[in-house]
Order: sequence, then structure tokens, then C-alpha cells
Amino acid sequence: MERVLILGATGNIGALAANRLIRENVILRLVSSRESGVKSLRERFPTAEVLQADWYDPVSLKAAMRGVDRLLIVTPDFVTDETLVTPNIIDAVREAGGVSQIVRLSAMPPGLKATDLSQEVLATRCGAAQHMVAKPLLDASGLPMTYLNVACWIMFNLSWYLAEPVKTKQQLLMPAVTDARRRWVSEEDIADVIARILTDKPAKHVGQDYLMTGAEQFDYKDVARLLSDVTGKTITYVDDDSMLRASMGDHFDAVMTYYTHESRDYLSVPASDAKLKIMGVSQTTLQEYLAQNLALFV
Ligand SMILES: NC(=O)c1ccc[n+]([C@@H]2O[C@H](COP(=O)([O-])OP(=O)(O)OC[C@H]3O[C@@H](n4cnc5c(N)ncnc54)[C@H](OP(=O)(O)O)[C@@H]3O)[C@@H](O)[C@H]2O)c1
Repeated sequence: MERVLILGATGNIGALAANRLIRENVILRLVSSRESGVKSLRERFPTAEVLQADWYDPVSLKAAMRGVDRLLIVTPDFVTDETLVTPNIIDAVREAGGVSQIVRLSAMPPGLKATDLSQEVLATRCGAAQHMVAKPLLDASGLPMTYLNVACWIMFNLSWYLAEPVKTKQQLLMPAVTDARRRWVSEEDIADVIARILTDKPAKHVGQDYLMTGAEQFDYKDVARLLSDVTGKTITYVDDDSMLRASMGDHFDAVMTYYTHESRDYLSVPASDAKLKIMGVSQTTLQEYLAQNLALFV
């Protein structure tokens, strides 16, 4: 049986991928850098191997990589110094020797280069500002890479900073300067695709850079309209940063800077149904997701 390591297993996408892979014919190894993360992974995935490792600490990272056949990397926005983390991961993979595939979640509008981003945006370490540092390093390493490039919004953003005032005040609150016609992908679809990529033969996906976006673009008024349709109430979009400010905390200024790139560059990101391409099943639309998660909004 192959051993699959998830770096980022306590996170949103990593845990959803682990939920799927635990049911597959693989040995699942999950990592957290925190003791509390290790404890929660052990409780949640009792049949998995769970280790404490920190990607800033090469010794622990190399220990976690020993005996691994495939690897999933999901890194958090704002805090990841890819100039350290990615070289540490590359070194650990090389030392382990037997890794046949690395799957990396990214978010980079196709065709966009790091030189298209301002120094201020690059300094946010959010989205493309982070992934554009990691990808050239991974590409140059010659390691067997598969990228899943989600250059759009993941639908779980709704539950973080959009749903509550929809429910309590029938208002969708976001600062108008961050508005753009963006595409949307469900987190469940991303996890489905990752699990499939990691359980197919590596040769099927190594060398691929899959763009995963939604079929349609929606600005905030469009999302409010979809929410009105699904809830049966009139949901109004309001130019207001309070929810975003509260959910981002210390990262609020960084995310506002990041949005200057995103609200400009996400407009030209094309539709790409990676789930249909890889699994033969169409991705969830935003309308379907809102209906499936109605309890968040009423
Ligand atoms: N939100 C969106 O709309 C959107 C859209 C497209 C792409 N993305 C991309 O999605 C990614 C975020 O995914 P997510 O929400 O699933 O991430 P997340 O919930 O923030 O999880 C991040 C993971 O990183 C791990 N981690 C943090 N520091 C670590 C360290 N020093 N050593 C080892 N592991 C460490 C955390 O584990 P521990 O803390 O337990 O160690 C956690 O499991 C970002 O790269 C973002 O660009 C987001």
C-alpha cells in the first residue's frame, strides 16, 4: 500500500482531502506543527499515522517524509515564507527518495507573472503572492509535480465572512473596492479532485497544472441575487468592511492590499471544470452550493 502524506492536514482543504483518502486503500500520514493539532488529528483520524512536524524545521520535516510515496501540500495565506518552506520540502522529498508525486494547491491567474504584482501585493503572502514564489522553486526541482490551480474563490469563504449578516440582516457585506466578477469552486469538489489525483496512477497526473474554476463569474450583487433566490428573502449587497475586518483580524490590511491584484486579475481567469476533466462529474455551481448550505443563510 502507498503512503500518502498531507502537509496542511488540520486545515480546511487538507482535512477534507484526508476525509476522502482515509477511505481509500492507502496508508495516510497526517502532520501538524502544533501539539493540539496532532491531538485533534489523532481523534479525528484514528487509523492514520499522525506526526508533529514543522516545515520550518528540516529535521522534523525529513522524519515526516520518510517512507512516503505521495505528498499533498496546502499552505496557509499571509504567514508562509515560501523562500524557506518550499526549499525545506524539496530537500526532505529528495532525502526520502521514494516520492512519486507531489500535489500542490495553488491560486494563480494563468499567464500572470510575479513581475505583474506590486511589491506591496507580493509582501502580503496571500494567494498568488505566495504561490508564485513556490511554483518556480518546485518546477526547477524536477520533482514529480501536479498542481491544482484554484484561481478563484472557494465557496467556504461564504461561511467565514459573508453568511452571518445574510442570516441576521438580509445583507451581504463586503467593501466595494474588493468587488469583481469572480468564479467560485466548492471546497468539497477540490477535495474530491485531490483524492482522485492521489489515488490514480501518478503517471496520469504528474506534469499537469490543472486550472479549477467555476463556469460563471459573479460580483457581490450577483451573489446577493442568488442568495435572494435561494432564501426567498431580499438580500441586499452593502458596501461595508466590518465582517471582513472581523474575520481577517491582523491580516485585514494585507487582504485589502491583496484584493487590489485579485479584483483586477481574476476578471480574465477562464472557466475550467477540473472535476469534469478528471472525474467525469461536473463541479457544483454556486447556486447548488447555496441551496445545499441553506442553513448558513436563513
Ligand atoms: N480562500 C480562497 O478563496 C482560496 C482560493 C484559492 C486558493 N486558496 C488557497 O488555499 C490555501 C489555504 O487552504 P486552507 O484554507 O485549507 O488552509 P488552512 O486551513 O489555513 O490550513 C493551513 C495548514 O497549514 C499548516 N501549517 C501552518 N504552519 C505550518 C508549519 N509551520 N508546518 C507545517 N504545517 C503548517 C496548518 O497546520 P498546523 O497549524 O496544524 O500545523 C494547516 O493545516 C492557500 O494556499 C490559499 O492561497 C484559497
